[in-house]
Amino acid sequence: MTASVAILISGKGTNMKALLDRKESGDLSCEIPFIASDTSKAEGLLLAQAMGIKTEILPYKEKGKEEAERVLDEMCRSHHVQWIVLAGFMRILSPWFVNRWEGKILNIHPALLPSFPGNRAILDAWEYGVKVTGITIHLVDRGMDSGIILAQKAIVIKEEDTLDSLTTKIHETEHDLYWKTLKKAIEGQYSFDGRRAINDSY
Ligand code: GAR
Repeated sequence: MTASVAILISGKGTNMKALLDRKESGDLSCEIPFIASDTSKAEGLLLAQAMGIKTEILPYKEKGKEEAERVLDEMCRSHHVQWIVLAGFMRILSPWFVNRWEGKILNIHPALLPSFPGNRAILDAWEYGVKVTGITIHLVDRGMDSGIILAQKAIVIKEEDTLDSLTTKIHETEHDLYWKTLKKAIEGQYSFDGRRAINDSY
C-alpha cells in the first residue's frame, strides 16, 4: 500500500515543492492528500495548489493551538496519513499531538543539531562564526528540535561565503536530503538503538 504523507508548512514551501517534485518524478512513492499551513499567508500554498494538491489552513489564529491540532489530527486520521512531514512549519506541536503521532513526524532543521535550535538557525550559526554548519532531519519529540536524528549533512562555510550564499547552500542541501530520508522512513529502513538511528547511509 502506498504511504500517505501530510506536509505542514508556514512559509515559502521550497522543501515542500522539492518533495512534490520527487513524488511527481517517481523517486518518492507516496500519496500526499493535503498540504496544511498554520497561516493563509504561506506562499507555499499557491505552489501546492498549482501542482493540484489540496491545501488546508489550520485554525491556529482563530481558535488557538489546541483546536488547530485537533483539526489536524482529525484530518490526518480521515486521510489515513502515516507520516507527517514538517517543511518549514514554525509551530511547536503539543505533547498531546506528538504522543498521538510518536515516531511518525519528521522535521527538517537548517543547522547541525543540537547546535542552533529554534527558528533562526542559519543566522545564529552565521553570527556565531562557526566554520561548519549543515542540516538535520529528525523525528519530532516533545522537546524543541530534540528528537532522534535520522540524517545530517555538514556544510563548510568558506571565507568567501556570505549569509546569502550559505542560505542557498543550506536550502539546496535540504532539498536533496529530505526526500531521501523520507523515502527511507516510509520504507522502514531505520531501526533504533536508543537515540541512534541505524542505516543513515546518505
Ligand atoms: C527551511 O530552511 C527549514 O529548515 C527551516 O525553515 C525553512 C523553510 O523553508 N525550518 C526551521 O527553521 C525549523 N526550526 P521553505 O518554506 O522554503 O521550505
